[in-house]
Amino acid sequence: MIVVTGATGNVGRPLVRALAAAGERVTAVSRHPSDELPEGVRHRRADLADVESLRPVLEGADALFLLIPGQGAHPPDVLDAAKAAGIRRVVLLSSQGAGTRPRARSHDPLRGYEDAVRRSGLEWTVLRPGGFASNAFAWAPAIRSGRTAAAPFGDVALPFVDPDDIAEVAAVVLRDDGHDGRTYELTGPVAISPRERARVIGDALGEPVRFVEQSREEARTQMLGFMPEPVVDGTLDILGEPSDAERRVSPDIGRVLGRPPRGFADWVARNLAAFA
Ligand SMILES: NC(=O)c1ccc[n+]([C@@H]2O[C@H](COP(=O)([O-])OP(=O)(O)OC[C@H]3O[C@@H](n4cnc5c(N)ncnc54)[C@H](OP(=O)(O)O)[C@@H]3O)[C@@H](O)[C@H]2O)c1
Repeated sequence: MIVVTGATGNVGRPLVRALAAAGERVTAVSRHPSDELPEGVRHRRADLADVESLRPVLEGADALFLLIPGQGAHPPDVLDAAKAAGIRRVVLLSSQGAGTRPRARSHDPLRGYEDAVRRSGLEWTVLRPGGFASNAFAWAPAIRSGRTAAAPFGDVALPFVDPDDIAEVAAVVLRDDGHDGRTYELTGPVAISPRERARVIGDALGEPVRFVEQSREEARTQMLGFMPEPVVDGTLDILGEPSDAERRVSPDIGRVLGRPPRGFADWVARNLAAFA
């Protein structure tokens, strides 16, 4: 049995679907209930920040897909609980920044989880995705109502990754041998700027989407509404002044899946209803 935390999120949803379709027994975990799971998948409510709520959920599982929650969790406790429950393999969803900006304050939780996973004594694989294509959902209300999209650093391009590709990689490394002790960096096939992403959505809609360039301060104020301050500043640093490593297209999705990563237009085509 495979336990998927973050099971109702952008990565967790397709991961649960892929594992269930492959015939795995899956326990889908999130704090809130879910009524959108494939048939046969059981859902359990638990909070990664409350290790006692996790213990019964982990019992009897072989493998764990582990999300890094916003705050409050103590990573070694989560890994100890996994071991005590008999889990043999853990796949951690970390972030590219853990490798490219190892000293950034915003990445303290990533370091805590990566260290705990590597020291756990379990078989482990760390996934380090760059920015998600699904971050464009933040534009959906303004695109639906006024065909506009606002973002800072309009011409700075990064290789945004499709969450479905992350899920597909996760499904492979959870099920197959040969990925123990590996850290995979997951990106899209090409770097694409916010202005270009708005244009791609407009092309798919058949109507232009006007791009509005925000100042860093305007974007910061908006992001503070749903992200902690160090994460906002760390994210804006990457979006505004990415390093060469952050602009680079990684070969890892191609290596694991045997096909190139999906591009942004592909993600938009599958999610067009959100913007129409
Ligand atoms: N977006 C990016 O550009 C980006 C880039 C690199 C890495 N990441 C990382 O990717 C991860 C997931 O992204 P996503 O887009 O799939 O997230 P998402 O769509 O926001 O979904 C988060 C999932 O985790 C669950 N969850 C959140 N906190 C939890 C907790 N304390 N205990 C148990 N479950 C919890 C949520 O359900 P409930 O709310 O019901 O619990 C939901 O199922 C995050 O850790 C993020 O840091 C994101």
